[in-house]
Amino acid sequence: MKVDVLLGLQWGDEGKGKVVDVLTPKYDMIARFQGGPNAGHTLEVNNIKQVLHTIPSGIFHENKVNLIGNGVVLDPVTFKKEIESISKLGIDLTKNLFISKKAHLILPTHKILDAASESAKGDTKIGSTLKGIGPTYRDKIGRDGMRVGDLLENFQEKYSTRVKAHIDQLENYYHFDYKEMLESSEADWMEGVETLKKYNIVDSEHLINDFLTNEKSVLAEGAQGTLLDIDFGSYPFVTSSNTICAGACTGLGLAPQKIGNVFGIFKAYCTRVGMGPFPTELLDETGQKLREAGREYGSTTGRPRRCGWLDLVALKYSIMLNGVTEMIMMKADVMDTFETIKVCVGYEIDGDVIEQFPYELKDNVKPVYVELPGWETDLTKLTHQDEFPEEFNNYMSFIEDEVGVPITIASVGPNRAQTIILEQE
Ligand code: GDP
Ligand code: IMO
Ligand code: MG
Repeated sequence: MKVDVLLGLQWGDEGKGKVVDVLTPKYDMIARFQGGPNAGHTLEVNNIKQVLHTIPSGIFHENKVNLIGNGVVLDPVTFKKEIESISKLGIDLTKNLFISKKAHLILPTHKILDAASESAKGDTKIGSTLKGIGPTYRDKIGRDGMRVGDLLENFQEKYSTRVKAHIDQLENYYHFDYKEMLESSEADWMEGVETLKKYNIVDSEHLINDFLTNEKSVLAEGAQGTLLDIDFGSYPFVTSSNTICAGACTGLGLAPQKIGNVFGIFKAYCTRVGMGPFPTELLDETGQKLREAGREYGSTTGRPRRCGWLDLVALKYSIMLNGVTEMIMMKADVMDTFETIKVCVGYEIDGDVIEQFPYELKDNVKPVYVELPGWETDLTKLTHQDEFPEEFNNYMSFIEDEVGVPITIASVGPNRAQTIILEQE
């Protein structure tokens, strides 16, 4: 068996959590492969809404294995909170949740270092979620990290050594006042560790490969989006992991030939939270209309998301990097009242039009738009593609023709039920 991968093609928050929940019945295991509690994946089923940060989005279905892979960075504090919130829904994950020994731990001081680093950057700050992601991956790459497996042996000694080194950086490099933050967070962190230890801490690369050998199916769930990838995103305004499909190989221990379908998920428009370039951003009433209709406020931080038109230059780049085989279009219903809709098909830079995503997106990038008629119909109640208005079909066909990959699912509302599987010709 091969592993299918579902990942974001834009700047995150495309609706990954919702679609993973929809697709879970087809799979035996759902596996997160990178990122950490900077992610916020929203699931809405009937009247229940749950935001997940670390735990995979397969939890609403019984008897599915959920795996937190080695590529993830895990904060025991968030983990414990999430477990508690899920328990309230009557979901017990002690048997079905597996955590890689090789996943790196976010220590309380990593979060403080994140705050110190952002504050030192001043006007050039990234707009991080301040969950300790950058400092934890920095320690991992610097070969100074602490892993979940370390909780099983000599834990206190390793912890104290790391915290001491972090305090040295906070005092002597950042000159950052850390004492209160550390005092108020350490006890919670230790409690989180105790919760974590109650779950299955495993050599997950073996678990997942054994699954495949035994003909069991796996869906890998990406976090963030391709344009936030550490190598290919709008650097330095990115996250600190490989969000692209290759990240599923390194973040789970999968050989490249084990990758099957790649589901690329995108919003029918575009959003971004945090700083950094965004060529199709709308700073006018239309942007505001998208934000309000789409309830575009961060699932993790509550920050207003920046909104703009769909960008096909960026989308094609993401499709290329990930080898996307099928696309999933989200939140078209947000534009239900729009008379016309614009789509960016090129970038004009100093008089020349380019269609290839450039090295850097500077202020001189001007989007070249094609204008399409809106459908001016309420999509949220539709249940079958036969009911789609012509203009909506045309919008999807236009995108498919431009990027050369079929759209196989259209999502028309936040609820699990508002998902339309499209028949392919
Ligand atoms: P993720 O990080 O990719 O899982 O996405 P988020 O959960 O951060 O953000 C997506 C938001 O859009 C959530 O509030 C979802 O409930 C909501 N959502 C998902 N799909 C749709 C859709 O098709 N239409 C509308 N209106 N909202 C949606
Ligand atoms: P999901 O999985 C949207 C953004 C932050 C910031 C940059 C770096 O829900 O799609 P970090 O905390 O990683 O240091 O922040 O990346 N960011 C996200 N934006 N969705 C996410 O996750 C994000 N995770 C990080 O806003 O600009
Ligand atoms: Mg999100």
